[in-house]
Amino acid sequence: MLESSLEYFRCVRCSSKLELNIFKESKEIIEGILECKKCHEQFPIIDKIPILWDDFSLYLSSRKKLGGKLYQLIENQNLKKFCKSSLSKTNKTNDDRTELEERWTRIYQNSKSSKFYSEIKKDIGSLKKSELALEYGCSIGIMTSFLAESHRIVFGIDRSFSALRIAKKSYKNNLEYVVADFLSPIFGKSKFDLVLALNVLELVEPVKFLNHISKQITSGDFIISDPYDFDRGINSVKNPLNEKTLRTNLEKLGFKINPKTKAPSSIPWILKLNPRATLNYDVDLILAKK
Ligand SMILES: C[S@@+](CC[C@H](N)C(=O)[O-])C[C@H]1O[C@@H](n2cnc3c(N)ncnc32)[C@H](O)[C@@H]1O
Ligand SMILES: [Zn+2]
Repeated sequence: MLESSLEYFRCVRCSSKLELNIFKESKEIIEGILECKKCHEQFPIIDKIPILWDDFSLYLSSRKKLGGKLYQLIENQNLKKFCKSSLSKTNKTNDDRTELEERWTRIYQNSKSSKFYSEIKKDIGSLKKSELALEYGCSIGIMTSFLAESHRIVFGIDRSFSALRIAKKSYKNNLEYVVADFLSPIFGKSKFDLVLALNVLELVEPVKFLNHISKQITSGDFIISDPYDFDRGINSVKNPLNEKTLRTNLEKLGFKINPKTKAPSSIPWILKLNPRATLNYDVDLILAKK
């Protein structure tokens, strides 16, 4: 974590500013704890990645294997103790997302060259330089690291520690990755002048998510894409959107849709699942502005 990110982060529980305890650092903070002095919630920084999750033991409850790996990885004794005590408070659940998240990390690493990303880069390339940009569901950071080449400060949010560990391999002094939930108010009332949310609408209640993002943009660009693949059994969202309702919802929130994305599009997005299988999506892209 970059020390300069501290001024942007807020406690996900009470929105207060956080205090930083550094245990290990070189160019950036490798191990540490972010602490809220008001509600006493603590957020670990492990292997350079801040985990701003409301209750670390809840985060580990569905990632016990990851918890064991993190415990092994941590060098500082205070942080090790925090990790151990969080592990001891995890809920009993059979659902462990560790391997699933590691598998998707590999899939994104193998799919970096999908034409989809170069298409989006063209659109982003034409935007003016922003002060503060944010990508939701950044995974291994394909687009976030591209944003950091031309925008002043860039954040990427994802709940997958495994994906962010790969993203973190390339250091930039204006680029930060955070483990957090899409709907967590980790930035308090900060406003962004560019927000990206690519192919994530199936994973969060879309209308709530759009409302959350809308509050983070008073004047700026919003780039959203989706293949509308909402049919996910018990994991499906309650209120899915489609090409039309996504656009009307954005307009209701005060966004103006760029004329060139008023009509739905079909951009190929190909994910290489393994050497013999691919997942082919046709993705709709919207460039919006307030
Ligand atoms: C379908 S992938 C899209 C990745 C990337 N945006 C792209 O288009 O290549 C969704 C990403 O969102 C993350 N994610 C899903 N639900 C999330 C949530 N509630 N909070 C934070 N990240 C989440 C996943 O870990 C995953 O990396
Ligand atoms: Zn707090």
